[in-house]
Amino acid sequence: MQKEKTLSENKNTLGLYIHIPFCKSRCIYCDFVSSVSDNACMDKYCDYLKKQIAIAKDKYKDKYIVDTIYFGGGTPSILSCDNLLKIADSIKSSFVFDLKEFSIEANPCTIDKTKLSTFRQMGVNRISIGVQSFNDDILRMLGRAHDSITAINAIKMAKEYGFEVSVDCMTGLPNQTKEDIEDFVEKATNLNVDHISVYMLSIEEGTKLEELINQGKLTAKSDDEIIELYDTACELLKEKGFERYEISNFAKNSKVSFHNLRYWRREDYLGLGISAHSLIMNERWHNPDNFEDYYKALDKGLMPMEDIENLDEEEIKEEYIMLALRLKEGIDIEKYNKKFNSDFKSEYRLALIKDAKYLNINDKKVSIKDEYLETMNSIIVDFLK
Ligand SMILES: C[S@@+](CC[C@H](N)C(=O)[O-])C[C@H]1O[C@@H](n2cnc3c(N)ncnc32)[C@H](O)[C@@H]1O
Ligand code: SF4
Repeated sequence: MQKEKTLSENKNTLGLYIHIPFCKSRCIYCDFVSSVSDNACMDKYCDYLKKQIAIAKDKYKDKYIVDTIYFGGGTPSILSCDNLLKIADSIKSSFVFDLKEFSIEANPCTIDKTKLSTFRQMGVNRISIGVQSFNDDILRMLGRAHDSITAINAIKMAKEYGFEVSVDCMTGLPNQTKEDIEDFVEKATNLNVDHISVYMLSIEEGTKLEELINQGKLTAKSDDEIIELYDTACELLKEKGFERYEISNFAKNSKVSFHNLRYWRREDYLGLGISAHSLIMNERWHNPDNFEDYYKALDKGLMPMEDIENLDEEEIKEEYIMLALRLKEGIDIEKYNKKFNSDFKSEYRLALIKDAKYLNINDKKVSIKDEYLETMNSIIVDFLK
């Protein structure tokens, strides 16, 4: 596997996202497309995934070189070793590769030595573990299927097997304190994780969390409290040598997520599995978010595509800028000018003057200063026409 960590331009390359919509239990805050299902349901889904891979092969194999694979969910690590290997084999025989990264999301309670060996056999080199917190009371409150010891052991094992390890940390949770955040950073960094994603809690409509807050059984934190906890995490991670290369993502020794970088750089990606999104040659769509419609299309031998959008040049530019400003690397002016046959600095002269204090501007790049990343939305609107 080619694993040089340069942030180079990808031409005619593709990232593959595979959605696995199953979990051991549902966490109270989560509205991702996923459910608790039995083995027969998972087996059937994996068979259909293989059908979609076969259709995708005919469409894309000759046009693209796949350089990243990302199994996300839900909880991909919940699948049997047999199913995981079948999907990985099917992908490997259906595309041309120059693989930089193969990531898989995992819940700590689904990681053991057999699973890790299977990941290795699949070619996985990076595991993204949903930890959220190392406080057992908080984990219980969230309905997580694991405790802190299980998370610590999962991280240790994954590191021992030689995987690059990323962990998710949630901030702004009910009852969460500054000490909880300090504890998270301390434990995660002592365990030598390579990457940390820090998410501010979002209270999603229709979730158990929303219900408990409405019933007064849990208390939501104010925006200021959430930002304070988030900032604590950011500052501590910086002190520990983690670079914030995207608003919510921190990497040690440049161990960034190449697959996720594709999204922010607006490079092509193909989503397989229910609810997965794709962007190919400026055409955007997503797969149906229910099994029935997904299976129906595949039974007819069709690519299950919904809400197909072809963006016009202005929309593409806006999206490109919005995504690039999430990144520390920001907007590469030469790349922008070439891509859009334009002159970025004169096109956005007014916005660059108005937001000068929040921006790093030089001949090559424009990016938002680290300390203003969280308020990026109010800066980005000035770049929208
Ligand atoms: C697909 S899950 C990760 C893997 C696995 N399902 C797990 O939870 O252990 C993706 C991540 O999104 C984050 N997340 C999910 N719902 C969220 C919400 N409502 N607000 C903030 N972060 C959320 C969590 O940090 C979670 O780990
Ligand atoms: S956070 Fe992860 S484990 Fe929990 S319900 Fe969502 S996808 Fe499943």
